[in-house]
Amino acid sequence: MDESPRLAIDFCSSQSGSEQAPSLCSDPPDSRLHWDESLVTGHAGIDNDHRYLYHLVDDYEKAIETEQGNAVAGQVLCDLATYAAGHFEREEALMRRIRFPEADAHRAEHDRFLASLGELVTAYEIGSPGVPGDILAFVRCWLTDHLVGWDRRLVAFLTAHRQQERQAG
Ligand SMILES: [Fe+2]
Ligand SMILES: [Fe+2]
Repeated sequence: MDESPRLAIDFCSSQSGSEQAPSLCSDPPDSRLHWDESLVTGHAGIDNDHRYLYHLVDDYEKAIETEQGNAVAGQVLCDLATYAAGHFEREEALMRRIRFPEADAHRAEHDRFLASLGELVTAYEIGSPGVPGDILAFVRCWLTDHLVGWDRRLVAFLTAHRQQERQAG
């Protein structure tokens, strides 16, 4: 059982943060990219979580486009980070259960996302110019890359694992 503490996601109320800008994805997708069927992994629970994450990203985009104000966008960011952390926990529990060989690296990707988002939110809270758009670009880019790469490989392994169990049973 992994007892290491989860990266803190209480940055919504935290004043600490790195001075260093988080690394953004090298190949950002179209900033208008929204959820579509090409992002489906085939695992109902994971796909439902992903759909909801994209929904929260859409909410955040609307908040910053319509200038609903920092309070709304800030709250959506907190919701997004909290839901993402919960989703990552669910995927990581699944990985432990099926002894997924890439579990450590996959978890490190999750941690990287939370750390980078935390740094961006710290910059957002102090009102750094351009940060709301940077957050949107980063979240969309990371989510899309992660879903079509890391999460698909997890679901492919799970599918093979279930097949083996059926054949063995
Ligand atoms: Fe994942
Ligand atoms: Fe995921």
